[in-house]
Amino acid sequence: MATRLIVSINGVERPVVCDPEKDSLAGVLRRMGLTGTKIGCGTGVCGACSVILNGEVIRTCNRKMKNVAEFSEIITIEGIGTPQHLHPLQQAWITYGGVQCGFCTPGFIVSAYGLFLKNQNPTREEVRNWFKDHKNICRCTGYKPLIDAVMAAAKVMRGEATMDDITFKPAAVKDLYGSALPRPSALPKVCGLADYGDDLKLKMPEGTLHLAVVLSEVHHAKIIGIDTSAAEKMPGVVKIMTAKDVKGSNSLPVPQIHPRMKAHGILEFPVICGKKINRRGDVVALVAADTEEHARAAAKAVKQNLEILPKYMTYPEAVMPNAIQLQETLPNFYMEQPLYKGQDTADLFEDAPVVVEGSFYSSREPHLPIEPDTVQGYYDADEVLTIQCRAQALYDARGEVSAATGQPPDKLRIIMNPTGGSFGNSMTSNTYSLMAVAVQNLGVPCTLTLSYEEFSHTSGKRGASFSNGRLACGKDGKIVAAEYDVALDHGAYTVVASIIFGNFISIPFHGYSIPNVKALARAGMSNNGFQTAYRGFGSPQIYTMSEALIDMAAEKAGIDAWEFRYKNLAKPGDTTINSRPYMSYAIYPALMEKLKPVYDQYKAEAEAAKKEGRHIGVGLSLGGFLSTIGMHDAAEVALELNPDDTVTTFNTWQDVGQGGDIGALTHTLKALLPLGLTPDRVKLVMNDTKTCPNTGISAASRQHVMAGKATINAAGKLMDAMRKPDGSFRTYAEMVKDGIPTKYLGKVDQMGLADPGLNPNTGEGEKNSEFMYAVNLAQVEVDVNTGKAKVLKYTTAADVGVIGNRLAAEGQGYGGLSHSIGFALSEDYNAEKKHGNIIGCGIPTIDVIPDDFNLIFQETPRKNGPHGSSGCSEDFQSSGHMAVINAINNACGARVYALPATPEKVKNAYEKKQRGEDLTPPKYYLGTEFEEELVLIKANPL
Ligand code: FES
Ligand code: FES
Repeated sequence: MATRLIVSINGVERPVVCDPEKDSLAGVLRRMGLTGTKIGCGTGVCGACSVILNGEVIRTCNRKMKNVAEFSEIITIEGIGTPQHLHPLQQAWITYGGVQCGFCTPGFIVSAYGLFLKNQNPTREEVRNWFKDHKNICRCTGYKPLIDAVMAAAKVMRGEATMDDITFKPAAVKDLYGSALPRPSALPKVCGLADYGDDLKLKMPEGTLHLAVVLSEVHHAKIIGIDTSAAEKMPGVVKIMTAKDVKGSNSLPVPQIHPRMKAHGILEFPVICGKKINRRGDVVALVAADTEEHARAAAKAVKQNLEILPKYMTYPEAVMPNAIQLQETLPNFYMEQPLYKGQDTADLFEDAPVVVEGSFYSSREPHLPIEPDTVQGYYDADEVLTIQCRAQALYDARGEVSAATGQPPDKLRIIMNPTGGSFGNSMTSNTYSLMAVAVQNLGVPCTLTLSYEEFSHTSGKRGASFSNGRLACGKDGKIVAAEYDVALDHGAYTVVASIIFGNFISIPFHGYSIPNVKALARAGMSNNGFQTAYRGFGSPQIYTMSEALIDMAAEKAGIDAWEFRYKNLAKPGDTTINSRPYMSYAIYPALMEKLKPVYDQYKAEAEAAKKEGRHIGVGLSLGGFLSTIGMHDAAEVALELNPDDTVTTFNTWQDVGQGGDIGALTHTLKALLPLGLTPDRVKLVMNDTKTCPNTGISAASRQHVMAGKATINAAGKLMDAMRKPDGSFRTYAEMVKDGIPTKYLGKVDQMGLADPGLNPNTGEGEKNSEFMYAVNLAQVEVDVNTGKAKVLKYTTAADVGVIGNRLAAEGQGYGGLSHSIGFALSEDYNAEKKHGNIIGCGIPTIDVIPDDFNLIFQETPRKNGPHGSSGCSEDFQSSGHMAVINAINNACGARVYALPATPEKVKNAYEKKQRGEDLTPPKYYLGTEFEEELVLIKANPL
């Protein structure tokens, strides 16, 4: 059925032909080319698809055309402003750091435009309530920059400021390193003109086939057969691919390499499962059809004949003695690493006046970018299989797809689409491999867009952790010993288990002096969602234990939480838990001192509130994270002088929203400062394996360091070539005339800057070349009747070295900390039906993140970083959640041991505490007993 109606879109009457029952307004607008209206959740909960309909902000993904009246007036992002004539909201979004991945941006700007139709003089609180009421969700920014942007734009609307006042002027600054120069990609994003994957889908050539996945809904099963016969006969179906259609190994090559593997096996990660299902969301078939609708209909008709097997949704269940082995060649607990420092700890715990212990769980945190996964593939003009996707490690993805599908790497090209957030999520090549399988089998262009539910169940998560730990200190509050046993539960598969579990014995208790430590880190699998990279990888899990124990020890010793931490900070001569000198003994004390006045203020407010019967508490956590992937890290960047004397940088600084573009631009400008280039004279060619060298992964807070140093290296070569005997520089024409090449490849590696790894028998070593530091402070109120905890105020003092771009650094700060608050209070994934939805997964909405949200930066120059910088992002998602957990305890005595601190858990703990009951949970079973396992390891040194 089709209906024709006339609607006014952006001030122009347009005829629309649609199916009023089936078509959504978002679908119709996007079909008309107005792809600034994005589809994220597709179920009305994220606000990415907002438009103004007859003067009201509405979400369009769930607004059927039958509910859009003829002659309605619609305003989309494209009608609000253009690159040449920006609306104040669009300019403010650019200037105030409102754009990171930018996927939520059109929806927010449209929503704010709707607010201005009613009120051009809103308070911050009114703006926040507006976004809350209109369900606008942003995963990247922590919301505060968005409110700053609305307030600035409102001033322009009222005539109290000009557009000029809210526009950054690069010409006024000679050295833009450390400035608030906005990112180049912000302009198309605020105008709704950035083409993300699903927008590109609409622009694919005629004959493009649409793919749909058939997913497992069970957690563990043997595949008896996949019956595609009925589905194959359905309209438009071209082919249904199963495991037999995968030409390569049909397993992503993600080897876990550690000297202490318990077997020499390979962890299989099938692209399409043919033998076994290991988790909900495993792909068992891939349908290709002429339309997306046909492909999805056929996918529903594929029958799965399964023999259901026992499921183990957690590591402790999977390592019970009677559990069956989940993978053919590896036991369920298959990797371990001990750590010893100082004297044996047993006696120290016997004698210590203060001992605290506990068992802690950190949840399987979902990344929750607003954009779901979408991929396109085709053979390009050179017969190279080309995949356009969200990969944040293009060259790694090329290797993985090649191994899994048999496509030779030199016949495989990976291009990164503009990406609507990742935070580590797009490190895994599962959907990119599916696309390669489809193009190999079909030979025509294909496109795949997952619904949010499919995306949520097919994609990786942060690995969960289970730990048993204890800490001993003297009467003076000085820590004498720590012991812990921790297991990484990486779910069905893993991308980076060995690195993450390695961080379990190098990150905890960072910054403190702990003379004696005994620990064991383990890793193993379960039938839950698989682990992939996530900002801060390994550190949020292990700080969940260490920063709880520190807080518990302070409380038991009767010492103020700030004083206890300050007293135990490492001093020159003290060593890390890995028995190596700290890289800095000055940074943590300075950060703590900077934070002290804020701590005193938060504490005084909390104490005053307690006198009035409110339960407000203050919590601290020390955190920080490594930068780069250590000794084996390397990067390349090329710089070329162009005929018009501009310079092009070629690199794969994959931009998932963190600011790869502004990073590359800033570094190029700084490295070529003697040339006096302005930002408009630097061109970016990025994120295509055909045209760009390998700059490495956009993870581990490494790109600012590694791409930066590679840029310096390339710039040195280019300027040496351009330099004339009198010190001035040749133009392009002079270079050509003198026969001098105009393009130079910069290369760096980290050989010699760190140890190759930790000693497998003792855990001694320093595998990092640089570190980032943070001290977090939260003020939280608990409603003890409901258990609901609300963060009222939050401040972090951080040192990430010299800041390269202020907007990007602040963006990572607010954004990362907002994830930390979500991790503390609500975020979780356990492969349940509700976890197919961002709200069901606990994404923090704007009312959860405080407006009183502050960053204090200290900039200690780093000797191993470019221009004194270090990395940045992961500093803010290391231990930030523990400031919230510790504040909840401080507010009402409810210590939450298992994340997230849901109202139910907080209420339960509070009521138990009121009844005088012990809150300490029983120890987790992690396999062979801790001491017994250590004896086994000692008996078999490597
Ligand atoms: S609310 Fe429509 S896409 Fe999320
Ligand atoms: S910038 Fe808001 S979701 Fe990425």
